This record gives sequence, structure tokens and C-alpha cells, in this order.
Amino acid sequence: MGAEVLRTERLILRRPREADREPFARMNADPRVMEFFPATLSREESDALMERIEAHLEQHGFSWCAAELQDTGEFIGFIGLAVPRFEAAFTPCVEIGWRLAAEYWGLGLATEGARTVVDYAFADLGLKEIVSFTTVANARSRRVMEKLGMTYDPADDFDHPGLAEGHAQRRHVLYRLRRNCD
Ligand SMILES: CC(C)(COP(=O)(O)OP(=O)(O)OC[C@H]1O[C@@H](n2cnc3c(N)ncnc32)[C@H](O)[C@@H]1OP(=O)(O)O)[C@@H](O)C(=O)NCCC(=O)NCCS
Repeated sequence: MGAEVLRTERLILRRPREADREPFARMNADPRVMEFFPATLSREESDALMERIEAHLEQHGFSWCAAELQDTGEFIGFIGLAVPRFEAAFTPCVEIGWRLAAEYWGLGLATEGARTVVDYAFADLGLKEIVSFTTVANARSRRVMEKLGMTYDPADDFDHPGLAEGHAQRRHVLYRLRRNCD
């Protein structure tokens, strides 16, 4: 996930590269993909996010991975791990997340990639717990969390500190997954 490449049945999860910037920007400019985020991203904002992903990899040894279809070599989005920068009741923690281009939704690809990332997080990184969070209304993402076996406790609901009071997406749900061998 740093230097390593992870493989699933249909995907390759690998370090992002220069050629990903364009399809990444296209995905980040799509209102369907960004429905549950404050705004779509400009090319500059998307490139800056790509640089933060790379910097996170340098700092922590893991990050979001570019997801590529094995069959075609196409870049279809990102799946991976991140350390949230904000403070909340559940931080510090490692978060699992996903964002795919809309053409590839509904094929089980996010769940397939995330399962392999979960295995990597527990077996290779030795993490004891990973979390995932999203705004309350993001049912697709919540479904992926459920399919991964993550658990939801309404007592963990929180207001995202990066969103202003009154913002429609401020209320977030938190899902947790603990390594089950201890
Ligand atoms: C969330 C996202 C990654 C899911 O990708 P995906 O490859 O389509 O996910 P999967 O196919 O593995 O699973 C999606 C599940 O959501 C379900 N689903 C789809 N639309 C739904 C809806 N409107 N309400 C509830 N569930 C829905 C699907 O039926 C599927 O569940 P199932 O296998 O039980 O049928 C993708 O929609 C995406 O990139 N969204 C935009 C970015 C985003 O919101 N990222 C998460 C931020 S926390």
C-alpha cells in the first residue's frame, strides 16, 4: 500500500501516479460523486488533494490507493486508509475510505477493494481498529461499511468539525471494525 501493490479479483490498488491526475480531477468535478461533500473540486483543488495523498503516504507509510481495473488498466478512483487531521471523540484513529467514478458504481468494486484494504490494515499494519465515517444521508457509503462488517452505534454520531454549524452535511455517523483475533 506504500510500495506494495494490493490485488483483488478485479482491481489493482497501487500508489497514485501522475497519469491519474486527469481522471481523478474528472471524478472530483462530478456532482454525483461529490453529492455528500461540501462542493465539487476544481482541477487545482483535485491536484492539491493528490499531493496530500502522496504526503500522507510519505508520513504514515499508507494512504489512499489508486484503484485500477485489472482488465483495462483504467483508473476508477481511490480506496484506502488515512489518519484524519481533525480532533473528535474517536481520534486519533485510522479511517478507511473510498471514492469511485460514477460509471463504476453498483458493481461491488468499493466493497471488494475495501475488504483487501481491511485485511492489509489488520494483517500487515497490525492495526487493532479501523473506523469509517460519512454524513448521515450517504446511504451508499454506509452500505459499504455494513457489508464490511463494520458496526454502527448512534452514540458515536458527531458533528464534523470541518463543517460550519447549520451545514446540511455536518452530522456524521461513525462505523468501527475491530481486529477479531484479540
Ligand atoms: C460509496 C461508493 C464508493 C460505493 O461504491 P460501489 O462500488 O458502488 O459500492 P458497492 O457496489 O460495493 O456497494 C454499494 C451498496 O450500496 C447499495 N446502494 C446503492 N445505492 C443506494 C442507495 N441509494 N441507498 C442505499 N443503498 C444503496 C448497493 O445496492 C450496494 O449494496 P448491496 O451490495 O447490498 O446491493 C460510491 O458510491 C462513491 O464513490 N460515492 C461517492 C463518493 C463517496 O460518497 N464516498 C464515500 C465518502 S465517506
